[in-house]
This record gives sequence, C-alpha cells and structure tokens, in this order.
Amino acid sequence: MFPTSTFSSLHSTNVTPTPSLSYLSTSSLSSSSSTSSSSSSPSSSLSLLQSSCLHRRHLRSFCAFGDTQLRIDPKSKGLKVTCSVGSEPLKVMISGAPASGKGTQCELIVQKFGLVHISTGDLLRAEVSSGTEIGNKAKEFMNAGRLVPDEIVTAMVMTRLSRQDAKEKGWLLDGYPRSFSQAQSLEELKIRPDVYIVLDVPDEILVNRCIGRRLDPVTGKIYHLKNFPPETEEIKSRLVIRRDDTEEKVKSRLEIYKKNAEAISSTYSNIVKKINGNRPKEEIFKEIESLLLQVQKDRVKMMKPGNIIPEIKNKKNQVYGGQDNWRGIPTKLNNIPHSREIRKYFYTDVLEATQRAINDGRTRLKVEINIPELNPEMDVYRIGTLMELVRVLALSFADDGKHVKVCVQGSMGEGALIGMPLQLAGTRQILEFMDWGDYGAMGNFIKIGSVGSKEVDEQDDIFVIVAPQNAVGNCIIDDLKAMTDAAGNRPVILINPRLKDLPGSSGVMQTMGRDKRLEYAASFENCYFFRLLYYAGTQYPIMGALRMSFPYRYELYKRVDEPSGKEKYVILSTFPERPDTDEVNDAFLGKPRNKTKEASGIW
Ligand code: AP5
Repeated sequence: MFPTSTFSSLHSTNVTPTPSLSYLSTSSLSSSSSTSSSSSSPSSSLSLLQSSCLHRRHLRSFCAFGDTQLRIDPKSKGLKVTCSVGSEPLKVMISGAPASGKGTQCELIVQKFGLVHISTGDLLRAEVSSGTEIGNKAKEFMNAGRLVPDEIVTAMVMTRLSRQDAKEKGWLLDGYPRSFSQAQSLEELKIRPDVYIVLDVPDEILVNRCIGRRLDPVTGKIYHLKNFPPETEEIKSRLVIRRDDTEEKVKSRLEIYKKNAEAISSTYSNIVKKINGNRPKEEIFKEIESLLLQVQKDRVKMMKPGNIIPEIKNKKNQVYGGQDNWRGIPTKLNNIPHSREIRKYFYTDVLEATQRAINDGRTRLKVEINIPELNPEMDVYRIGTLMELVRVLALSFADDGKHVKVCVQGSMGEGALIGMPLQLAGTRQILEFMDWGDYGAMGNFIKIGSVGSKEVDEQDDIFVIVAPQNAVGNCIIDDLKAMTDAAGNRPVILINPRLKDLPGSSGVMQTMGRDKRLEYAASFENCYFFRLLYYAGTQYPIMGALRMSFPYRYELYKRVDEPSGKEKYVILSTFPERPDTDEVNDAFLGKPRNKTKEASGIW
C-alpha cells in the first residue's frame, strides 16, 4: 500500500488519494533534456549590425511583444488565401538550420496565407534593439550564437501566441521550439501546429549563406551577396551584417541546432514535413504552398459539420449529435446513467480523434473508452451506449461516402464451449434494429457483418469491429488476423477490444502462438483512450482521468472537489506514451519524472 504519510497528505489536499491503474502497460516516458545554453556568455567584438529596430523581419510581419507592437506593412503581393476554417485557423511551424531559408520562406507564406509570423529571432532582436531588460539578457547569448534561455523565449512566445490576431488569423511560428523542453512547453499547453515544416539544406551551403547574408535596415529585405544581390548601389551601401553571421558562430549555431533537431521532430513525428531547401526559393515555396493548401483542404473536410458528428435523428425526430469541440473532462461521471450530453460529448471526442487518425493514413486503430457505462466490469455497463458510439462513427464515415462494415464476432468454439462472450450477446440484433437515419445509409453505406476473412468485400472501405474479445477457451485473434489480412490497407477500427491472452481449452482456434497473438493484438494503435482513475480496489470516488486523442499526448487529469460542491479536472501532466502506474502515481504525488521508483500500493 501507499506509505501512510503519502496517503494522509493526499487526503489533506481535498483530493482523493491515488489512482488505480492496474491495466496499464509498463511503457515509460523517455526523458530528454534541453541542450539549450543557459550559462554565461562571451561578448562579441563585432558590431556590424546596427542597433536599429528596423530589422528585416520587423518590417514584414507583426513584431510585437508585451505592450510594444511594431507593425509595418509587408506590401504583400499576390492573392491572400483565407486561412481560417470555422474557428480554427491554420497553424504552422517552420524549422531548419541557421540560414536554411526560414525567414525567406516565411515572407512568402505570410504574403500568400496571411498568417501571423512569429519569429523568435526577430522578437529577440527587437528586444535587443529597444534595449529592454529581456534584450540585454538575450544579447550576449545571441551574439555568441547560442540559444537564449528557455524561460525568456518561452514567455515571449506564449504572450505573442495569445494575442487576438494570432488566434484569428492563424500563426506561423519560426524558430520555436528550438529545444525539447520548448516543445514540451507547447505540448503541455496543447499548442500544436497543423504541420511542422523542416527545411533541409547541406551544412556547407548553410555556412556560405550566412556569410553572404546582408539585411536592408530600411526595407527589411534579406539579400545575399551572391544569390540575391541588392538591386541598386544605394541599397548595397546601406546593407548590414548580422552579428552572429560569422563562420565561427554559424558553426556553433548549427551544432546546437543538430543537437536539438531530433528531439523536436519526434514530438511532431506525425505532422513533420521535410522539404529540400537547397533549391531556388520559388521552387521551395511552391512545395510549401501546395502542402499548406492541402492542409487547409483536409481541415475544411474535417470541419464539415456532417463529418464531425452526423446529425442523428431518433424515432421521435429529435436530433442529437452535432459539431462539438474538446472542452475538458466533463464532470459528474459517476452519475449513472450518463446524461445524453455526456454521451454525446464522448462520441464527439472519439469521432474527432478517429477521423484525425484515418486522415493521417493510420489503418490499424483501436478506441478504448472506459466511462462507467462502457466498462463491462461495472454493474452500470450499457450495451446501448456502445451501440450509439458505433453508430456515430459509422454514420460519420458513411456521410463521407465510405462503405462501412460494422462487425460483431459470432459464436466461437466447439462442443460445450460454443457460444459468445456475454457482453456481446444480442449485439448484432440490436445493431440490425437500430435507427440508422432516414436517408438509407443502412444497407447501402453501412452493412453489418461478423469477424473473419469472408466478411471482407471489395466495396468495403472501413471496418468497425465492436468489442472483439477472447473468451476462456476461445480466441478471436485468428479470425481477426484473417480479416485484417484480407482488408489490406483499409482502416480497421476496434472499439473497446479485449484481446488479452486467456487460457485455451483444447487449443482449438488457437493456431497462432502466444507471442504472435500478443504481437498481433499490440499492432493496433490507440486513436482514442479514456479511462477514469480510482483508488486501488475501489470505484469511488473518481481520482482523475487519463485521456489520449490522436495525435495528441496522453493527458493525466486530477479530479478536484470545489467548495461549492462542484468538481473539476485539472491537468497534471502529459506523456508521449501511455504512462505506467508508477508514472501516474508520481504525477499525483507531484514527484519529478524519472525519480527512482518506490513500491506503491497501486494495482
Ligand atoms: P534566428 O533569427 O531564428 O536565426 P536562425 O535560426 O539561425 O535562422 P536565420 O535567421 O539565420 O536563417 P533563416 O533560416 O531565416 O534563413 P534566411 O531566410 O535568412 O535566431 C537567431 C538567434 O536568436 C539564435 O541563434 C538564438 O540565439 C536566438 N533564438 C531564436 N529563437 C530561439 C529559441 N526558440 N530559443 C532560444 N534562442 C533562440 O536565409 C539565409 C540566407 O540565405 C539569406 O542571405 C538568403 O538570401 C539566402 N537564401 C534563402 N533561401 C535561399 C535559397 N533557396 N537559395 C539560395 N539562397 C537562399
């Protein structure tokens, strides 16, 4: 059990003691530390860059921090594409080594897409130029070609991102995050881009680009003595060089970039787009432009109300469903039966995550949602809630013109052991008699089937399998495997699967070896996960919740009672992988990550 002192201290915080997570895998959080510099700084003898607020990108984008706002019109050319889709405008990150051409491309992206360009390099240079306290602190790091400490940069970026224009027009984040810890800061605040662009340029070219770079302090334009020479002698005479554009400093900046690049990319592995930056800038922009247009298109498709939650009408013609966005964990989850709002809330949450995963090209997916009504281990389990969830998913895909096969495993086994898991008894009939809407989706776009290779027809686009499960003596995995093999790269979504290995009776139906069975079961990735957490061995009160919605991280919440009698869920931590019991306990106890694990009473 918990050490007594820990137990009582948890009680004294008005929060229930500790969660029970017996089911969790032992995957652990890999920790990485930022390599950003934080120590002192050499001073530079170069004084080539004028101390002028008219620095290049100040002129071509909104450059503001705190109360200081400097807005100079970039004289945009070309057509602006509205980047907003409903209430969610485009969010883009651009990264790459020093001089990979981020600034050059940002200029073009802003002209075309109207995003708010937030360049940490520019924000910092503006602070330096204005001689602010932040600027004075940052100067020495920048001049030495080192990273400015996270606490300075992160606060600056958060302030800028929270401004109204960034929320309304969307943003283009350039030069942030530059370390794993900066990426973590964004993740913890759930600030994620739609796409993470990395400009890829060979080292030798980068050094040359930096050394030849010149800036026009009047127009803010970036030149290069060889690649993009100034148009007139007059411009040439006023060009300035950045202090950190010496060969030695470029090499140091490059080294720091390389140290951090992988850790940052892994945070955005599912949305990263590497682009060859060693080409004419127009050619690079063409590729970025079509990428962003595609992202916009996908978002419009996803945001279509019918694609989020179809409006399902029940027999009394009442509509439920409709577009919804994640608003935090709903409260009163121990009130059974769950209200329609709570059910709807979770259906939307599951649907959005599943659609994102499918749009991302994932094909072997599972949804695990364990609110009391969907937890077969609780007395309040309701098959109707599971069916409703399946209907929402299937109708949404059908609305999109996909042929969906909703599958429930049939009887398994031999002799006395023939039968099906209790939880699934009658499920197929319920599905067949359910109201599938007035427009005839059932039979055309939605079909009901069983589990097995024979169930896979050519016209099927997506398979939704309802709670596939092993029963003692009977293993569903062989049939499931045959089915997924036949489905090829078509998506197969398991809803609340229970594929843990159970003892076989005669070995019949278990032709696949145990290791292979487990490996196969693990090949389905979670596109959605939600589980309420309880103190070990109890189901009351709720301690908190663990949620993951593709492509985001696992989020751990603590439930807190409020004096008014209400409750709320407060986020404690996020994890790239499903946290194990110790990690959850540590987060509840406020312990730092990676502390040596101690025995605990969590089962
Ligand atoms: P920052 O200003 O962000 O510098 P950087 O990342 O080193 O990038 P650059 O601005 O040098 O290059 P770029 O990729 O924008 O290339 P450009 O388009 O200009 O940061 C500066 C400093 O601030 C950092 O070193 C650090 O100290 C601090 N800092 C910033 N963010 C921080 C953070 N998050 N945390 C901590 N510290 C932070 O192009 C370069 C040259 O190449 C130009 O001459 C251009 O004309 C030419 N060029 C561009 N494209 C092409 C092309 N396709 N072909 C040929 N030439 C090209």
